[in-house]
Amino acid sequence: MTQLREPVVAANWKMHMTPSQTREYVRSFAARWDGDDHLTVAFFPPAVSLPAFLEARDDRDDLIAGVQDVHQEEEGAHTGAISARMAQDAGAAWGLAGHSERRHEFGDTPEQVARKARRLAEAGLRPVLCVGETLEEREAGELERVLARQAEPVLEELDPAVAGSLIYAYEPVWAIGTGETASPEDAGEAHALLRSHIGARMGGEVARRASILYGGSVKPHNAAELLSVEGIDGVLVGSASLEPESFAEICRAAV
Ligand code: PGA
Repeated sequence: MTQLREPVVAANWKMHMTPSQTREYVRSFAARWDGDDHLTVAFFPPAVSLPAFLEARDDRDDLIAGVQDVHQEEEGAHTGAISARMAQDAGAAWGLAGHSERRHEFGDTPEQVARKARRLAEAGLRPVLCVGETLEEREAGELERVLARQAEPVLEELDPAVAGSLIYAYEPVWAIGTGETASPEDAGEAHALLRSHIGARMGGEVARRASILYGGSVKPHNAAELLSVEGIDGVLVGSASLEPESFAEICRAAV
């Protein structure tokens, strides 16, 4: 990993971790991971577990708290949804936008994802934009087109200064939760394509500085190899982040 970019290891807990499990986890993780000046560690707990996360984190504000999703409107009659401002007021600092489970299970369109990213930024949260192709799209040779189609509306929607500080997560859909990981070569190639799209839109300097994380079945045994690939600046971890020890091991692999 080059230090030009911010290295990040992030945990996406999805629909796991009740508030009491969250308290227990954070205490256990904090005892296993002292923090490191050269690595940013972030967690995306379910929104209802955010207060428990913050309480258990106590003075360990190196453990960043984020939300998994927000609604694309500022507020209103949207039963079950939360707004970016609510997330910010509850103590979140970062927010995911466009996770593939949101895109595929809930039907989030690229345009909705762009508006969600904008709401996050307006509320003062740092958006983490997730992009990635399905197996059919990869086999049809559409990787580059899919990455551009998912990133483009977001770059258009955001103020250039915000767009310039976006964090990206490349997560091939076929590797998420399947135990199948992209090979270091495939992941490196996708990161390079995404970075070149960012460069074409935002300029070379922004592209060189953009952190692009890899996600999709990252485990303690494959994290170091993925992280050693040029252009992979961190990882977004789902199932292997649910155990404090395995997530701490991934953090150690990143420093
Ligand atoms: P996984 O999930 O590590 O369980 O594949 C990754 C993600 O969805 O962010």
